[in-house]
Amino acid sequence: HTYVIIMAGGVGTRFWPFSRTSYPKQFHDVLGTGRTLLQQTADRFNGICPPENIYIVTSSLYKDLCQEQLPQLSDDQVLCEPIARNTAPCVAYACYKIAQQDPEANIVVAPADHIILKEEEFQRTIQKALEATKEQEILVTLGIQPSRPDTGYGYIQYIPESGEGIKNQRPLRVKTFTEKPHLELAQQFVESGEFVWNAGIFVWNAQTIINAFEAYLPEVAEIFEEGKGAYYTEKESAFVDKAYSLTKSISIDNGIMEKAQNVYVVLSDFGWSDLGTWKSLYEVSDKNEDFNVVDGHIMLYDTKNCIIKTPKDRLVVVNGLDGYIVAEYDNVLMICRKEEEQKVKNFVADAKERG
Ligand code: GDD
Ligand code: MG
Repeated sequence: HTYVIIMAGGVGTRFWPFSRTSYPKQFHDVLGTGRTLLQQTADRFNGICPPENIYIVTSSLYKDLCQEQLPQLSDDQVLCEPIARNTAPCVAYACYKIAQQDPEANIVVAPADHIILKEEEFQRTIQKALEATKEQEILVTLGIQPSRPDTGYGYIQYIPESGEGIKNQRPLRVKTFTEKPHLELAQQFVESGEFVWNAGIFVWNAQTIINAFEAYLPEVAEIFEEGKGAYYTEKESAFVDKAYSLTKSISIDNGIMEKAQNVYVVLSDFGWSDLGTWKSLYEVSDKNEDFNVVDGHIMLYDTKNCIIKTPKDRLVVVNGLDGYIVAEYDNVLMICRKEEEQKVKNFVADAKERG
């Protein structure tokens, strides 16, 4: 049977002030479609697995938000982490839990904060990856054609195959996986034409990923293996508190994908975007005739190339800005040059210090 694990515990700092510790971006209707990013993610798997096989892993702080936004989920389907330990423990917890119920489970792991424009193509690609993982003991990830040397992604070098394989989206063997390279390396990767971005969406069998944890993150494997017998019972939450106090913090990309030898990639093209930053939202949004993206009650004069997102109950007047982010949410207003958006992380840290 197929299961989907949605990772929804990130804070999305680079999207501040819209994304806040108390209300991260995956719980917002970022695109104004009427569905939040989390809801859109769950919707996307309609037809791939039954709703009772969708699991969300999140911080216990966001449990209520998850259940409000996805009321069809039962308590057992919202896995709560007492502290954030990055994505490897998050995947381990959910995979070990699912494996207890269904050792033969076929699992898709997906982030909660991406947009995917071509849903049908997405489903086709997932089906291809699922078929392949049923036949072979492989860890499959989805690869996206890179368009710039972005240092926020994982880079996958694959062994090309001619004709048929590509057309059939057969998974290709991965030669190297480099998580978040520095800029010079990212530039070399993109120029070489041999690399794709890791979409952060993974497909594998329960036993295959458990074997990988045992081989590459044995300390993490040991901790979550111990939960057998506690999962799906009233002992689960006490077990999880203990497990998270013991486990180290590491991403699945650094912990497993960079090291495993049985990684494959399905070359994908389904209108993917990681809405990681303001610029990425600007890029995928509809723009007015002056290339502004506006959302709010806004009057613009002599303003271009801006993204302006402010509360609807307040009139915002902007005159003479070019290439800026103007974002207001809750009690924070941020005005920042679009080209300097990497500084947003620093603003968040400084703002925290001020309280
Ligand atoms: N439950 C839980 N717990 N979820 C988490 C945690 C955690 O501690 N940390 C992050 N997440 C969730 C985030 O909410 C997001 O949906 C997903 O896991 C991925 O985490 P990010 O922090 O957004 O990762 P990233 O964007 O820096 O990098 C990953 O995604 C890129 C593509 O968007 C990597 O897989 C890269 O290789 C990849 O290119
Ligand atoms: Mg991300």
